[in-house]
Amino acid sequence: MIKDLVKRVTPLPHNSKLLILGAGFSGQHIAALARELGIKVICSRRSNEKPGADCVFNSSTQTVPSKSTLNNVTHLLSCIPPNADGEDPVLLSLKKQIENMPLRWVGYLSTTGVYGDCKGKWVDESYIPKPGLSRSKRRLACEKAWQNSGLPVQILRLPGIYGPGRSAIENIKKGNSKMINKPGQVFSRIHIDDIAGAIFHLINLAENGQKPNIINVADNLPSTNIDVMRFAASLLNTSLPPVEQFETAANNMSPMALSFWQENRRVSNQMLCKELGYSLLHPDYQSGLKDCFLQSK
Ligand SMILES: NC(=O)c1ccc[n+]([C@@H]2O[C@H](COP(=O)([O-])OP(=O)(O)OC[C@H]3O[C@@H](n4cnc5c(N)ncnc54)[C@H](OP(=O)(O)O)[C@@H]3O)[C@@H](O)[C@H]2O)c1
Repeated sequence: MIKDLVKRVTPLPHNSKLLILGAGFSGQHIAALARELGIKVICSRRSNEKPGADCVFNSSTQTVPSKSTLNNVTHLLSCIPPNADGEDPVLLSLKKQIENMPLRWVGYLSTTGVYGDCKGKWVDESYIPKPGLSRSKRRLACEKAWQNSGLPVQILRLPGIYGPGRSAIENIKKGNSKMINKPGQVFSRIHIDDIAGAIFHLINLAENGQKPNIINVADNLPSTNIDVMRFAASLLNTSLPPVEQFETAANNMSPMALSFWQENRRVSNQMLCKELGYSLLHPDYQSGLKDCFLQSK
């Protein structure tokens, strides 16, 4: 919960201005924490009718924020995925404007999909990415574009993002619960509170000269889909459908859903939590789902 994070996070210097490009699920939560910390924050969405839109940025229609919106931005966070050609929408449409900002930190939300299939092994940031899926190849191309941009960029690699409003709690409530058994298959996860908390922890470290280029932001406990569903059902005090074997369930899965089951990895957070000293608010899915459950009531 944001109020629990506020106590743990050091605010930024008073003249800071944070621009969040692509303030969807994660971006809105990060903005909420920034506002609680008294930081000036501006969020873009593709339409100003969407909740929380302070300005419009849409690379597909070449709609960019006004000059005054982009003035004096000191911290920039992009939460926007690659376009269909594997280009980064922000660098494609706003690079010149960004180069003129007095930036002290730039964050790019990427995915741990860039590592590819690791056959269930632990992967840290030293692992050389071998993306298997086309969307992960496009993502790696964007990471490289940001790294070569000359900007003070930090790349955050995220596994499955969940939080209040988007979790196993909602899946069960909507009747979308699936119990799929694929022996040995686990998924790593991160609660949006810890994306927000880690970002301000990292910005503060960067202000003091400690800024690794790439950081995994994941919780401590990669786990099976079944364990997560069972725990969510226990919180809701409800029953679940019978377990289906993956081979059977795969026949009715969309190509997108199927692609998630093709890769198996355990994402290590040792750099974030041991070397850089970030303390997770939700170290595992039990803690995170309890929060989602409490906030869904
Ligand atoms: N969901 C996951 O489990 C997961 C896991 C790992 C990494 N990621 C990545 O982490 C980032 C944040 O995830 P999220 O779940 O918070 O994403 P999200 O809610 O889907 O937000 C994505 C944002 O990008 C904006 N956007 C998309 N295409 C754009 C374009 N061409 N021009 C301008 N804006 C554009 C969207 O605009 P609107 O607000 O107008 O829709 C939205 O604000 C994303 O890059 C996502 O791919 C997600």
